[in-house]
Amino acid sequence: MARPDDLAERRGLETDVYQPAEDSALLASATVEAVEAGDAVLEVGTGSGWVAAQVRETREARVIAADVNPHACRQARDRGLEVVRADLVSPFRTDSFDVVTFNPPYLPTDPDNEWDDWMEAALSGGETGRRLVEPFLEEVGRVLASSGCVLLLVSSLTDREVVESIAADAGFETEAVREESYPFETLWVLRLFPVGPDTS
Ligand SMILES: C[S@@+](CC[C@H](N)C(=O)[O-])C[C@H]1O[C@@H](n2cnc3c(N)ncnc32)[C@H](O)[C@@H]1O
Repeated sequence: MARPDDLAERRGLETDVYQPAEDSALLASATVEAVEAGDAVLEVGTGSGWVAAQVRETREARVIAADVNPHACRQARDRGLEVVRADLVSPFRTDSFDVVTFNPPYLPTDPDNEWDDWMEAALSGGETGRRLVEPFLEEVGRVLASSGCVLLLVSSLTDREVVESIAADAGFETEAVREESYPFETLWVLRLFPVGPDTS
């Protein structure tokens, strides 16, 4: 993802749809590894559909690509993906996916500096960078099968420890399955498993 300082420069230069970058590649590699033949897979915030397409091309899985941005939905559909325009996981049925994967908008953004277009929806994580991470973690457990898992891209810009603590409060154990460092941030892919009820 772009450095926060570059965001103003990028306004007006981008298309309406986030194009695959290092974060997309990291998430795709972890997702392909997690998916087994026959799995039902949901990519939340699919953007161009590139991550979902990697999964569909390498695994015999049913892949649904979802995004709130209608331009992104069109690009993903043009790749031949099954696409649903959706706010996070809201339209999907309970217990319906084995794997849910998400590269959220995560750049911390000053509220006075928001610019209100589809690229902002793709990049800006609000003041904390966790604007969408928090509701996603609260809601994703509902659509996940009990033996399923979530893959979530997290940046050092959004504080991995805080994300892990929100995930724990939402009933998940986490492990980092990918890590890559750049001059301005470290990226991880966290794999989240629902924790069963404590029977001890
Ligand atoms: C960082 S981009 C990731 C795009 C793509 N998955 C990738 O890795 O290349 C974040 C995506 O989340 C989408 N998004 C933002 N808010 C959303 C919401 N409330 N529900 C679903 N998708 C959302 C954006 O439109 C954007 O496509």
